Amino acid sequence: MSNANDLQRSDLQTKKNMKLFDVYSLFDVTPVKAEGCRIWDDKGQEYLDLYGGHAVISIGHTHPHYVQVLSDQLSKIGFYSNSVQNPLQEQLAERLGRISGYEDYTLFLDNSGAESNENALKLASFHTGKSRVIAFHRSFHGRTSGAVAVTDNPKIQAPFNQCHPVTFLDLNDILAVEQELAKGDVAAVIIEGIQGCGGIHVPTAEFMRSLRELTQQHGAVLILDEIQSGYGRTGKFFAHQWYGVRPDIITMAKGMANGFPCGGVLISPMFQATKGMLGTTFGGNYLAMAAALAVLDVMEQENLLENAHNVGEYILANLPKSDKIKEVRGRGMMIGIEFHDSVAPIRQALLKDYHIFTGVAGTNMVRLLAPLCLTQEQADRFLSAIKVLLNY
Ligand SMILES: Cc1ncc(COP(=O)(O)O)c(C=O)c1O
Repeated sequence: MSNANDLQRSDLQTKKNMKLFDVYSLFDVTPVKAEGCRIWDDKGQEYLDLYGGHAVISIGHTHPHYVQVLSDQLSKIGFYSNSVQNPLQEQLAERLGRISGYEDYTLFLDNSGAESNENALKLASFHTGKSRVIAFHRSFHGRTSGAVAVTDNPKIQAPFNQCHPVTFLDLNDILAVEQELAKGDVAAVIIEGIQGCGGIHVPTAEFMRSLRELTQQHGAVLILDEIQSGYGRTGKFFAHQWYGVRPDIITMAKGMANGFPCGGVLISPMFQATKGMLGTTFGGNYLAMAAALAVLDVMEQENLLENAHNVGEYILANLPKSDKIKEVRGRGMMIGIEFHDSVAPIRQALLKDYHIFTGVAGTNMVRLLAPLCLTQEQADRFLSAIKVLLNY
């Protein structure tokens, strides 16, 4: 008996608590409550959320309609597999087609941005029978095998991911694109509506239109990654709609279900589906569908695209013209303020002294990815803080 106790005691002494795999840099804040564009931490401190949980919060935190729809759904049925009829998926496809102007496209539902891009790249390769992909410098498309291979950051690519044939070109360099397409072995060109993680780089409308023409001419699939720039973030449903082009495939996630994991791929009618070609266990589940439908309800009822556009224009027009700022880029609720020096002290002061969450891109850019419902008064709170911090 005493032997068993001794054994238990020594077991406890040597036992360690499991820790998290340490991959994220964390703010020193523990959110416990949120509403609209505001968050409260465990000490009751309120924060203004200009980061939107990395562009995920579209209609605002805990919107009452969203909470209601999701709770109702959970009490009915939360999950079954993709082997049964799920009318919510059809409702979402119909609504999404109408609101985005892509009624003639089909929808494949999955769970995240990387998964959407992975499926888009597969579709393009199945369709063309080719494998090389053109992507752009400073791109970010996710962390799964194909998605990370078309991401311009060797630091996050394992040797296993580097086997994909990918050619990186400069954004807006249409001649380089033409030269590569002319080789005849390109399955797809993948491009973000506005580059997000790479530092809010906006392709020119002229480049996008020529890209559309050239991909068509050379039989390559044009994939628009709208995972960060889509779903109303820039004031149009998709950022590429500012350029007047229609891609073959559009990938979505982030804002789609306001924080409930959900991704999707819009697919042009030129692609032929076959059973089993794509698939996923969780994609299109009842809760994700309820959340995504509630997002579209609120977007329409509260004119959130228009609001994102107007408040974005207001911020762009009222940012101080400080010589510490190198350039300001972006649209709507996707704005990058590039400084000459590191933004770490400014972001720290915004968080600690003004209680404002912001995002970052690289070392010198403050990235604003606020929920689409940000008000002008809330924008003013940020503008006043930044003016003081820049001694303006
Ligand atoms: C443009 C873009 N594509 C893809 C992704 C990957 O999305 P996820 O993290 O949901 O896989 C991101 C995420 O930040 C993104 O910004």
